Formats: sequence, structure tokens, C-alpha cells
Amino acid sequence: MKVLVTGGLGFIGSHTVCELLDANYEVVVIDDLSNSSIDVVDKIKEITGKDFVFYQFDVCNEEKLDEVFSKENIDSVIHFAAYKAVGESVAKPLMYYENNLLTTITLCKVMLKHGVFKFVFSSSATVYGSPKTLPIKEDFLLSTTNPYGTTKLMNEKILEDVCVANDNFSVIILRYFNPIGAHSSGLIGENPTGIPNNLMPYIVRVADGELKELSVFGNDYDTPDGTGVRDYIHVVDLAKGHIKALEKAANTKGTRFYNLGTGHGYSVLDLVETFKRVNNVDVPYKIVGRRPGDIAACYADPTKAYEELGWKATLGIEEMCKDSYNFILKQKNK
Ligand code: WQD
Repeated sequence: MKVLVTGGLGFIGSHTVCELLDANYEVVVIDDLSNSSIDVVDKIKEITGKDFVFYQFDVCNEEKLDEVFSKENIDSVIHFAAYKAVGESVAKPLMYYENNLLTTITLCKVMLKHGVFKFVFSSSATVYGSPKTLPIKEDFLLSTTNPYGTTKLMNEKILEDVCVANDNFSVIILRYFNPIGAHSSGLIGENPTGIPNNLMPYIVRVADGELKELSVFGNDYDTPDGTGVRDYIHVVDLAKGHIKALEKAANTKGTRFYNLGTGHGYSVLDLVETFKRVNNVDVPYKIVGRRPGDIAACYADPTKAYEELGWKATLGIEEMCKDSYNFILKQKNK
């Protein structure tokens, strides 16, 4: 079974490729390296001891994509390739709509041409907007507050319509909560370029001394300690969820949606204090004003993924903090 993984050198993509190879899938990766590094190819091979095929181009290039489908006997697709910075999407909406929608549309066209009908899509809990109640279930109202989130929601609609028009098509849509952590080897992990937007990569840079202190965006939310609560999920747990989704896609038709979260919410200060304790390192911080667009709390009801995919998260917040820091330490001692 040969699986095409778009964006397979990125943070979640690379961890998923490792799980696929460990599960004896053959893997083809397409990545344009716009938000990843070519050295991840060798790191994946070092981690798994297995080889895979890599093509460097933009998934929107229909001609090249068609060539790959003609050359490689692809059975299914896991689609990660997308821009994913919320703030950047507000500043550059057209870049986000063009890239994040055209990749999916091009993929679907070429898949249908080549009779490939199994599709796992990387979506996000951001499609739930600001939920009225918690935990979040898959049938909750969908609403988005930024172009990035809207591209995810629009992609979900596009894929649903492709399934209606093609009854052989099978789509599993995975709505990630907050992926953090890194592979236990420390060889792959989350390493955004520039100043990190997300909490964990910022904490890691402060712990490492590269950044002075963490700004905690608000402590006046209606949460236990006033800081934002999120459902942090280990990237390896998330990657394993894609294997289960692939198995599901192989024996169903139509579109199915699943939350990939732990079902537990942790505050910013919970994460900071856990990180300090398990890594025996300081993380200086200051409380500042809320970040525009942030919601108070968000965490999943992961029941449906457990009942229908046979998947649940197994790694806790301590492993997430340990593995995140271990990755950066390994990177420094390259
Ligand atoms: C988490 C909490 C912040 C940084 C985003 C996207 C989502 C997904 C994950 C792609 C919040 C607080 C953060 C900092 C802070 N990405 N924080 N200081 O916003 O929940 O989700 O990333 O799919 O789609 O929306 O994640 O890590 O940015 O923030 O206090 O320097 O940490 O206010 O409460 P978020 P985050």
C-alpha cells in the first residue's frame, strides 16, 4: 500500500511518515520546503531505518502531481501541505485562500483521474470558533474567525461535495487540537522559523535562553487560573491517529469527521509550570494583555475517534514538555 503524504517533511507530516513506515506502508512525500527542511528526509530514514520516495514541488503544480500519480502506484493520500499561521493569514488572506484551497482541489482532480479514492485531511479545531460549551463534539456549530481557519472549513466543504459527486471517494477529516511535543529520538520536532507564534515553541526558546521571557496573553479569562486553556496533544499520538484514519478510509465511503485531542484542557500556566518541573529549567514570564482573536478555553470530546477509529491519545503533558525540550537540546548539540 503506497501512501502519498503532502507536506510530509513538516512538523505533523514528518511524525506521520515515521508512523507509516513503522507500520510497513510504502510512502511517497511531496513537500515544497516552504515550511520544512530537506534534512528531515535523512532524519526520518535514521529514525525508521526505512527508505521512502521524496519529490520537491508545490502540490498546486498539477502537471508534476499527475506525473507522480502516473509513476507511483498510489493507493491513498494524507494531505498536510498548507500554510498554517493564523496571524499571517489575517495579513495575507489571498495567499492563504489560493494555496490552501488550490492544493486540495488539484489533489482531488488528479486523484479522481487516477482512480485514487482514499483521502485523509488535516483539519483543525479552529473550525469550531468560540464554542458555547465544552468539551467539543464533532457535530458542534462551525464558525471561523480568521482566514486560516476559514480555509480549513472551506476545504472540509469541498471534500464533502467531492464525496457526494463521487460515491467511491472516502474522506476522513481530522480536526487537530493543539499539537506539541516531538519524537522521542529528538531528531524531528517543531522548529518554526523566526519568532514562534505558538505557545510551546516560544516556551522552548525561552527555556533555551534564545528569548528573554514568555508573554502570557491575558490572565483574566473565565478559566481556573485566568489564562487560556487548550487541549494539547502529543504530535506522536496525533501521527498514530492518521494510521487509524487511513484504515478507516479503506473500508468506508463518504466523509467522516473526528476530533484528535486528549479531552483534557491545560492552561498556559499549567504548561509553563509542568515544563519547568519536568525539564528542571526556568521559564521567566510576564502577564500581558489578551491576544486578539484568542478564545478562553478549547478542549475535545475524543469519544468518536475512540469508538470509530479505535484511537485515543496515550502520552501526557509531561511527555509533551520533555520531548519538546529534548528536541531543541538535540538540535543544538547537532
Ligand atoms: C495557546 C495558548 C494563547 C503564545 C493555534 C491555531 C490553531 C492551531 C494551533 C494550526 C493561548 C497562549 C500563546 C504566547 C501565550 N494551529 N499563548 N503566549 O492559538 O490555541 O491555536 O495553534 O492548526 O489552528 O489557532 O495555539 O499555541 O498560539 O496558543 O500566552 O507567546 O497560549 O493565548 O491561550 P492556539 P497557541
